[in-house]
Amino acid sequence: MSATQGAAGAPPPASGPLQLWRGARLATCDAANTRIQAGALITRGATIEWVGEEAALPAARAYAQVHDLRGAWVTPGLIDCHTHLVFAGTRADEYAQRLRGRSYEDIARAGGGILSTVHALRAAGEQQLFDESAPRLAALVAEGVTAVEIKSGYGLTLQDEAKMLRVARQLGRAFPVTVRTTLLAAHTLPPEYRGRADEYIDTIAREWLPALTGEGLVDAVDVFCESIAFSVAQAERLFTAARTLGLPMKMHAEQLSNLGGTLLATRYGALSCDHLEYAGAAEAQAMASSGTVAVLLPVAYYCLAERRKPPLAALRAAGTAMAVATDCNPGSAPGASLLTAMSMATRLFGLTAEEALAGVTRHAARALGLAGTHGALVPGAAADFVVWNVGSTDELGYWIGLNPRRTVVRAAEIQRWPERQH
Ligand code: NIG
Ligand code: FE
Repeated sequence: MSATQGAAGAPPPASGPLQLWRGARLATCDAANTRIQAGALITRGATIEWVGEEAALPAARAYAQVHDLRGAWVTPGLIDCHTHLVFAGTRADEYAQRLRGRSYEDIARAGGGILSTVHALRAAGEQQLFDESAPRLAALVAEGVTAVEIKSGYGLTLQDEAKMLRVARQLGRAFPVTVRTTLLAAHTLPPEYRGRADEYIDTIAREWLPALTGEGLVDAVDVFCESIAFSVAQAERLFTAARTLGLPMKMHAEQLSNLGGTLLATRYGALSCDHLEYAGAAEAQAMASSGTVAVLLPVAYYCLAERRKPPLAALRAAGTAMAVATDCNPGSAPGASLLTAMSMATRLFGLTAEEALAGVTRHAARALGLAGTHGALVPGAAADFVVWNVGSTDELGYWIGLNPRRTVVRAAEIQRWPERQH
């Protein structure tokens, strides 16, 4: 690759110390999937200024620091673009019931499922919620995650949704990670609105969404579109409100059945549709046309013992961007390992190693509205990257329960373990 400079429309030039990171094998995860065997990066302040062959480095400059990465592979910081990692308690009891054959939907219809976590979360104070959630974020960060999405959706009152989102923001200040928050008040119907789902949706749309957005707590809006949750018509009322506020949209779509949610979401230009086990060629085509990312969540597929897989061949044929995420939550995906999610995406869904890596970098960034600034090693992007103890990037999503991370660099600062994290 020839050296590239910041493109037109890039953010204003960064300021701060100039650092050289040399001796790197670079998997840039840019649109051309550029690989550089003898590469180097120059960072200025918290931003990447230059990426290219070490032999083509600009003439010697006054670097504040020079780091020799000794031939290690370097990728962009990983991005987990779908999590519910702020929650209280566990649902191990429900998992045990599912092992005995009870279905996720049955448990939900009987008042368990998401609602059990709602009860636990409403009873938890902010500090408790932070303390319970922090180890999950620490686990992701230790694997090289430098940006993460965190959804609300276990509060289901204005106060409790706000509490979740504040804890998510607080986690973002306590850990070296960019946190994007998503309001998922339309996760399930709270008991106090029984029989009044339309009224609940209107309350979110007219009152909660503007209030929480006004407090700076919401980066996007999500809705669980499913027979045990909300209809396509209800999702549309929420999306109309989101559009008025200029908020991007996401949807839990076609996870347990095909309701037509994806086709609605793509008409609204949603950032992503997530799960998609029951989607088909029409949904794949619609997502490709609207630039909506298909977020695949293989840990939920695995833990729910689903049989039906997302339509990989149709997604590929349509050219839909595919991301991979943990879905970290106490019900369908109790886990906090993006590398394990990559392994499951390859082995269970059939993604290639390259697709899985693009799914936790470039495409995951797009699913969060962070394309251009995150998810690729390109000039103008955040200087967030991971140095790996691997012989090839095929080892990411290959190891299970083994973390080959060597060093995480966030905002051009080397993160130290374990002191900084605990
Ligand atoms: O992404 N599908 C809905 N929401 C979550 C599960 C939440 C829960 O069971 O607590 C999911 O799988
Ligand atoms: Fe989810």
